[in-house]
Amino acid sequence: MATINRSVIMKSLPQGAPRPDDFEIKTSELPAITNGQMLLKTRWLTLDPYMRSGFMADPNNVGRCVIGGTVSEVIESRVPGWQPGDLVVGYYGWQEYSIGTPEDLQWNHPDMPIEKWDERLGPASTAVGVLGMTGYTAYEGLINVARVAPGDTVVVSAASGAVGQVVGQIAKIKGATAVGIAGGPEKCRYCVETLGFDACVDYKAGNLPADLAAAVPAGIDIYFENVGGDVLEAVIPLLNPGARVPICGFVAHYNDTPEQRRQTPLQRLKAEGLKVLGKDGSTEGFAFFGFTGLSARHPQAEQALQEMSGWIKAGKLKYRESITEGLSSAPDAFIGMLAGRNFGKTMVKISGQGE
Ligand SMILES: NC(=O)c1ccc[n+]([C@@H]2O[C@H](COP(=O)([O-])OP(=O)(O)OC[C@H]3O[C@@H](n4cnc5c(N)ncnc54)[C@H](OP(=O)(O)O)[C@@H]3O)[C@@H](O)[C@H]2O)c1
Repeated sequence: MATINRSVIMKSLPQGAPRPDDFEIKTSELPAITNGQMLLKTRWLTLDPYMRSGFMADPNNVGRCVIGGTVSEVIESRVPGWQPGDLVVGYYGWQEYSIGTPEDLQWNHPDMPIEKWDERLGPASTAVGVLGMTGYTAYEGLINVARVAPGDTVVVSAASGAVGQVVGQIAKIKGATAVGIAGGPEKCRYCVETLGFDACVDYKAGNLPADLAAAVPAGIDIYFENVGGDVLEAVIPLLNPGARVPICGFVAHYNDTPEQRRQTPLQRLKAEGLKVLGKDGSTEGFAFFGFTGLSARHPQAEQALQEMSGWIKAGKLKYRESITEGLSSAPDAFIGMLAGRNFGKTMVKISGQGE
């Protein structure tokens, strides 16, 4: 029987914040699979800010299915070793079905072929969330790049979001003081009361520089940068000498139009006379790094995966997901995430198990 696939296409290049009519749903019929192929049904799709700063900033992608990390179920397989019911962590984008091969890659990274997900580590959604790219980003940035140590004061922006919520909790696990910056009292309360941050400052309350200064009486040793913009401006005067600033992303800038794009946050840091370092592992001053994601084939990532799965099971690491249902919810959920309407890791449940 033919498989009817629905996918979300980027119809036009967003100008500023994406709008619903920048996207459209297309229906197509998938061919029958041949030897070496699997028919995959998407269960979970993760929505992440990089889709706006990368894919949706490139005119060549107009008319293409939007990229994205996925967890899919094998429905039919003509590949030895891959069985119906297996869960596949891949990069099959905003669509309900795909035809996969074992050579397909996660994150388009040549080093990271698709993997089977072992649900003993965590529920399927976590494979592309807290136990996937975003959780690993937090782990890698705080532990291996910023080298968090007991007694450090760690500030993290977008604190209740996918990366931020994990950063603050790992800071606590490692004996540091964790201070979040988030949009609104509910998100701040969540960071403190549920996740165990020491404090969280609501940047939307209108008094960020003073409120943040009051929350970090000993200054800031590590600023885990997710945002840029006014939040970064409030942080800069509070950084202690020798502070480490792992730069993870600048979500406040991803919707900037060319006219709005003045100084990038990196240029801003350099203008302050602060040294921005490359990926070469130098430990002095500021570090700029990019992550590739999570693959069990990378020993460091495997260690992070096992450790974080253990923390979740031990109740030391909590996570919150912001879930919408069905492929057609993806554009609004994505637009909302960039505007802060998500509360936790933004996920779309495309289909349920065995549906
Ligand atoms: N380097 C890497 O490999 C890597 C990997 C994953 C993520 N990232 C980066 O990490 C950052 C966070 O990503 P995420 O997946 O964890 O997203 P997220 O925090 O779950 O969602 C985005 C959040 O950004 C905040 N935000 C949006 N506009 C803002 C503004 N103008 N000022 C302050 N906050 C704003 C909103 O939270 P509030 O409601 O609190 O404002 C929103 O909920 C992004 O910059 C992303 O690009 C980098």
